[in-house]
Amino acid sequence: MKESARQARAESRIIGFVPTMGALHAGHTALAQRAKQQCAPVVASIFVNPKQFGPNEDFTKYPRTLEADCEKFSAAGVDALFLPAAAEIYPSGFRTYVTVEGLSDRLEGRSRPGHFRGVATVVLKLLEIVQPNFAYFGRKDAQQVRIISQMARDLNLDTEIVVSPIVREPDGLALSSRNAYLNPDERRAAIVLHRALEAARAELTAGVRDSLHLQSIIRRALQAEPLAAVDYAEIVDADAFEPVTRIARPCYALLAVFIGKTRLIDNLYIEPVGDSGELAYHL
Ligand code: PAJ
Repeated sequence: MKESARQARAESRIIGFVPTMGALHAGHTALAQRAKQQCAPVVASIFVNPKQFGPNEDFTKYPRTLEADCEKFSAAGVDALFLPAAAEIYPSGFRTYVTVEGLSDRLEGRSRPGHFRGVATVVLKLLEIVQPNFAYFGRKDAQQVRIISQMARDLNLDTEIVVSPIVREPDGLALSSRNAYLNPDERRAAIVLHRALEAARAELTAGVRDSLHLQSIIRRALQAEPLAAVDYAEIVDADAFEPVTRIARPCYALLAVFIGKTRLIDNLYIEPVGDSGELAYHL
């Protein structure tokens, strides 16, 4: 992979890169399609990164669907698929980790200690190997892409980080490889995340700017679903990921909710446009 990347770079080709953990869905292929518009070649990786899973998380049962994944990426125009083995990425004696301070220890990082250290470490390694000009990430994992962008800036990486919107099922559920864990009742219950964010959006449209009020609207919507248990539901600014009292700059409403044993995340991105106090919403 390094050798072909080096060659492509020497030929001044524009390498686009889509890192994934596989079990592909239309959210992943949308990233590949976006890369295809801007880059050739487009490289994608599938690597279920053991270092970003906690000891009691779903590393061993994470869905692995390699054959179907190859077809999906191929249909999306991916030119090369990088499938490293864990022993290749983390040979014995591996000792170096990347920590993006501050941003990594709240919200997802608080619920999943060490998670973002594992993510930042593997993403830096993948970027070093694939040497992309552009790397594509989804806003579904808003805190993740914020941390990766910070890492790219702090470490002077030669890769531009590109963020794409969340791809959803027709009923609003954000696509996720973990949706495969849901039984039919849980699948029905899982739309409560989107419903709660829609409720927040309706309040915002009606002029509400107070975060505590929005948070209580979101929590009430989530509590209406008996199969849902809230991990966090917070309104934070989109830069520091710290709580805000009023929506007056780019913000996220961020959710992590257990549906049965399955932990799902979702978010609403809220962005002031112009000076009029008007907001744009990205759900
Ligand atoms: P994974 O969960 O496979 O996601 C790969 C990429 O797809 C991420 O950038 C994620 O934000 C994006 N994605 C997932 N669901 C999406 C959706 N519904 N709409 C749009 N984009 C979506 O995120 C990871 O893997 C890993 O942490 C990784 C970055 C590969 C490092 O191991």
